[in-house]
Formats: sequence, C-alpha cells, structure tokens
Amino acid sequence: MSDGLACIILAGGNSKRMKSKTPKVLHKVAGLPLIGWLLRTVEPLNPDQVVVVTAPHSDAAIAAAVAPHKTVIQKEAKGTGDAVKVALSALDKDFKGQILILLGDMPLLRAESIADLMGAAGEEGAGLSVLAADMADPAGYGRLAMKADGTLEKIIEDKDCDEAQRGITLINTGAFCVNGTYLQGWVNRIDNKNAQGEYYITDLPAIAGQDGLTTTVSVLEDEDEALGVNDRIDLSQIEYLKQLELRAAAMEAGVTLTDPQSVFLSHDTKIAQDVTIEPNVMIGAGVEIGEGAVIHAFSHIEGAKIGAGASVGPYARIRPHSVIERGVSVGNFIEVNRSTLKTGSKAKHLGYLGDVTVGENCNIGAGTVVANYDGYEKHKCSFGAGSFIGSNSTIVAPVTVGKGAIVAAGSTITYEVPDDALAIARVEGDVRPGWALERRQKKDKKKAS
Ligand code: UD1
Ligand code: CA
Repeated sequence: MSDGLACIILAGGNSKRMKSKTPKVLHKVAGLPLIGWLLRTVEPLNPDQVVVVTAPHSDAAIAAAVAPHKTVIQKEAKGTGDAVKVALSALDKDFKGQILILLGDMPLLRAESIADLMGAAGEEGAGLSVLAADMADPAGYGRLAMKADGTLEKIIEDKDCDEAQRGITLINTGAFCVNGTYLQGWVNRIDNKNAQGEYYITDLPAIAGQDGLTTTVSVLEDEDEALGVNDRIDLSQIEYLKQLELRAAAMEAGVTLTDPQSVFLSHDTKIAQDVTIEPNVMIGAGVEIGEGAVIHAFSHIEGAKIGAGASVGPYARIRPHSVIERGVSVGNFIEVNRSTLKTGSKAKHLGYLGDVTVGENCNIGAGTVVANYDGYEKHKCSFGAGSFIGSNSTIVAPVTVGKGAIVAAGSTITYEVPDDALAIARVEGDVRPGWALERRQKKDKKKAS
C-alpha cells in the first residue's frame, strides 16, 4: 500500500450531550478547536486529501475552521458507517492508498500512534487496522473480541454487548486505517441491524474477515490518548491534560513557572528562555514572551508580544494587538489595548492605554486614561519619546504629545502638545490661610448654643 494517504475525519451528528449551539469539534482546548488539534497531528503526515464529515447545521462553521481541507455534509446522522460512506463520495474515485478514519473529537491522539496504526494496516494479509486502548473503565466504548492468533475478530458496541463482552477492557478508540482498495465495497455491506439501528463503521473487521482478510490491532501505550469529548466534563478533562503538556514543555524549554497548575497557556504560546511566570496568570492565544521577561501574578495577556526583560503586572491586562517592547514595565491595574509601549517606557500604576503608541523611555503616571472611544469611533494617540504624562491625566484622542513634552498631573488634554512643551489643563487653585480654623470655630459655637 504505497499509493498515498487519505484522511477521513468524522464530525457529523448532533453531539447532544454538549448542550451547545457550537458544533462539538469547534469547542476549544487551550484556545484551539478540538478538530484543530487533530489536524495538527494529521497534517505532518502529508495526506493527499483530508475530508471532514459534517452535519447540515454545522457545516458552514466547521468548513471555515478546517479550510483548506474539504467538508462533506452527512444529511442524516445514520451512524459512523454511513458517515464514512458519505466521505468516500468526496474522495477521488480511483484512490487506492491507505485511508485513515479518525473521530473529530480526539484531540490527544499523537502522530506516533497514527504511524503505528498505519504500520499495522500494512502487515501481510491485513485489510485494515484498529487503534485500541486498554481501559480500566471501558464503559461506553466498543469492545474488541480478539482471535487466538492476535488479530481482531470483531468489534461489539457497548449497547450490543452481553455480560461477558462487557468485561472486555480492550476498546476501540475509533481510529482505523483501511486499505482503500476495499473500503468502498465494505461500507456498502454495513447494515443497521443493531441496538441503535445505526450503520456502524465498527462492522468493518467482521466484513473483512468474510473476505479472508485480517484486522490488526495497534494498542496505545497511554490510554489517555483515546479520550474523546462527549460532554463538557470530558472537555474540561482534556483541557486539564493539555495544560499539563503545555506547562511541562515550557518548563523543559527553560521557563520558570512558580506554580504551574495556576498558569494557563495557549496552543500557540511562545515563551523564551529564562522567563518567569508567577502564579495565577492566564495567557490567551497569540502571545509571545521574550527572554528574561517576568509576568507577575494575576496577569491576563492575549494577542500580545512581550519583549525581552519586560515586567508585566501584578494584575495587568494586556489585550490583543499590543506590543510591550524590551525592558518596558507595565505595573498593577494597567490595561493595554491595541497599543505599543516602546523600549524603556514605564506605566506602573492604574490606567488605560488604548490605541496609543508610547515612544521610548516615556513615563506614564498613575491613573492615566486614554479616552480613545467617542461612543462611535476609536481614535489614536501617540506620545513622543521621553515624554512624561503626569498622574491622573485624561488624554482625549486623537492627540499627539511631542517628544520630551510634559503633561501636568491632573490635566485633560484635547489638543496637540508640541515637542518639549508643558501642557497643563487644570483649574487654578487658591489657598485661604486660616479659613478652616474660622469655620470650625463658627460651627462649634453654633453646636454648643
Ligand atoms: C464510537 C465507536 C466506538 C468507539 C468510540 C470511541 C461506532 C459505532 N462506535 O462510539 O466503538 O469505542 O466511538 O470514542 O463507531 N458521527 C458522524 N455521523 C454519525 C454519527 C457519528 O459523523 O452519523 C461522528 C461524530 O461526530 C463523532 C464520531 O462520529 O465524532 C463518533 O460518534 P459517536 O456518536 O461519538 O460514537 P460513540 O458512541 O462514541
Ligand atoms: Ca464519542
């Protein structure tokens, strides 16, 4: 079997147990849809074609998520055997290579396991192979009835098992590798005479047997790889396992996680060596953190680049399209949104920086707010290199503050500030000597009488 590889991914049906308007395979784990994890594993195998089976209500959303791979709609959820039949209608008619059949909700499956499965399908006399797992609790899964020679006789679905079969712990993970020469003929022979009245892809081993071909079995070393998602509890379990993997990979790459279990990473998080991440940090999709940066406790970062040696938090929120350059310090209760803070700048306490470019070596005082939204549109600001924004200032966008300029504390700035100027916009105060004492004496006298 060296005539190429095709991959069928089953993502049809209704996934009722998720209780969701979002198709099951688009629910995310570490920021990536379940089916995205599977594609990540499959793509390096360079399949000639990938076909994803969807349901009528889920096709548009799934098609957008899996592009450029094709989807094909299974009109009615008549079972996994029917779904494969539908997929074959979208494959090249004369495809005779190996066909991988995978379930769209198995995000923990590893490439090595798929390679083993493909190897098993290529064995002498085999028509197909099944990826199996030995499960301490096999309830709900199809059970594998083995022959004395170590090949598979048949798969019995949980609902069709008798008491003895229910005790079998070797289960079907749902991943198959089938010789493309036979698959079409075999799926045509699947019937729906079973407890659920569905067409089961798990009938294939018995059908291959009728044609004198064997089914080989490849058993997973780690049964967790077989975990599928049927409901939100499964989803949280998969998230838990993925986070363990991501944290371990970060630490192995030289990142310090003070309290790993309270740090959440994303599928695409890039963290350089000698970064320290303190407890209770959430890192969403699209984040890159440069060497030696420190992310202090309780910070939330997504879609942002954090430069080498920068310091973020505690309690900072860095939102998408933001760049915190080398050596910048963003302190507690600062929100940065679609903004760039250039090298050496500091915004250390309280504030909102939205749609602003902050030049090099600026100081943004405590309580600075950029008013970037007028209720209809967002406007941009820029603060020149070396400028100083005094505490509790409101900068009403669009505004440019020039290089080296100073905005006096407590100012509301609605106009351009030239380079090296001072802008001060606050009510002149006065001090009245003795006024408070006089008032107190007057009030006390009244109270006593
Ligand atoms: C299936 C297997 C079972 C295996 C288990 C592993 C069958 C009959 N049973 O059971 O042996 O142990 O997976 O998790 O194959 N789907 C369609 N169209 C349909 C029905 C299902 O595309 O008409 C898709 C679903 O989106 C899902 C996958 O096929 O991704 C599996 O369907 P599901 O109903 O979850 O099968 P299980 O009962 O879990
Ligand atoms: Ca399932």
